[in-house]
Amino acid sequence: MLIAVVVGGAAAAFAYTAGWLTPDRVTPDKVVSILAPPGGPVLGYRRNHSKGICFSGSFEANGAGAALSKSQFFTTGAYPVTGRFNLAVPDPKAADSARVRGLSIRVQTPDGQEWRSAMISAPFFPVATPQAFYALQAAAHDPDPNAMKTFAAAHPSLGAFGAWAGSAPFTGSYADTGYNGLNSFIFTNAQGQDAAVRWSFAPAQTPVTVPVEELKKRDPDFLDKDITDRVAQSPQRWTMSVMVANPGDPTSDPSKAWPDDRRKVDVGTLIVSKIEPEADGPCRDLNFDPTVLPAGIRTSDDAFPAARSAAYSVSYNHRTAEEKNYPRTRTATQGAKP
Ligand code: HEM
Repeated sequence: MLIAVVVGGAAAAFAYTAGWLTPDRVTPDKVVSILAPPGGPVLGYRRNHSKGICFSGSFEANGAGAALSKSQFFTTGAYPVTGRFNLAVPDPKAADSARVRGLSIRVQTPDGQEWRSAMISAPFFPVATPQAFYALQAAAHDPDPNAMKTFAAAHPSLGAFGAWAGSAPFTGSYADTGYNGLNSFIFTNAQGQDAAVRWSFAPAQTPVTVPVEELKKRDPDFLDKDITDRVAQSPQRWTMSVMVANPGDPTSDPSKAWPDDRRKVDVGTLIVSKIEPEADGPCRDLNFDPTVLPAGIRTSDDAFPAARSAAYSVSYNHRTAEEKNYPRTRTATQGAKP
């Protein structure tokens, strides 16, 4: 009898962890699966933001951020960066005219700590919670034409996002695009004082507006070619700005931008100095997990970073296990890519 109870208990625990008892729960596996394009996931690639181009460079801190966070990252100095420009698409062959661009960075400091961030070009997120993100994907993949209408009616932030996508100036380069972290984090300084913050990277290049119809006529890989040419000519720069919340600003909801009059501190410059091979360079086995943070930065009541961490891990585990599908850089000795 005791054995039956133990075995039964173990089976129930297994069923619980496998999610069989809570079929409505949004799990990281479900979220990653639903991101797949109609033909299924593209093996060997990131399950979202699949198209991109890797780079290396540095972050030059100007020291101003030290008042907000004790992380060595904000102490005056230059720290190595591995990063990736990317598009918010699940298909690595998508055209570069896709509306939302991303910038991912990993910064390493001499004290052995790391800071990872994956940002997008939109000024706010289309939905308020990870559950709503899943529901949005479900509606987008639903053959019922009313599914998106019903979702949009219940989630006004999606309409605001659509208005941004349709009206904000679009450009022809990763280099003149700005990127926003959107999620809120807590900085702690050397005196132990906390501040809720969000960060953004503003390009040194003046944005040159190009109509989307014009971008659609360009070569489907125009962004990769453009950034490769620009970086070969000279390093490309962005200023990192930290926005500090006023009491009461919504930290848990990245679909709500904070008012622009909030205190902003320019803390340093990202310098992209070398384009690296995307297929099998230093970004391939890197997971830009937004919860990899140094002491002096921690997550807030924003539920996204933890949900993203879990989903990125599932995606990473899939793509790094799909060895025979690994993208490889074509070389003269390897011949054509299989
Ligand atoms: C619950 C919401 C989200 C889910 C489920 C999700 C899912 C994913 C997945 C599966 C990947 C591929 C990870 C990998 O294989 O390494 C990814 C990449 C990425 N995501 Fe998200 N994401 C979410 C929210 C966000 C938000 C809020 C942002 C921006 C503020 C963002 C920006 C990015 C960027 C820039 C990348 C590319 C990272 C890289 O270069 O490796 N995502 N996302």
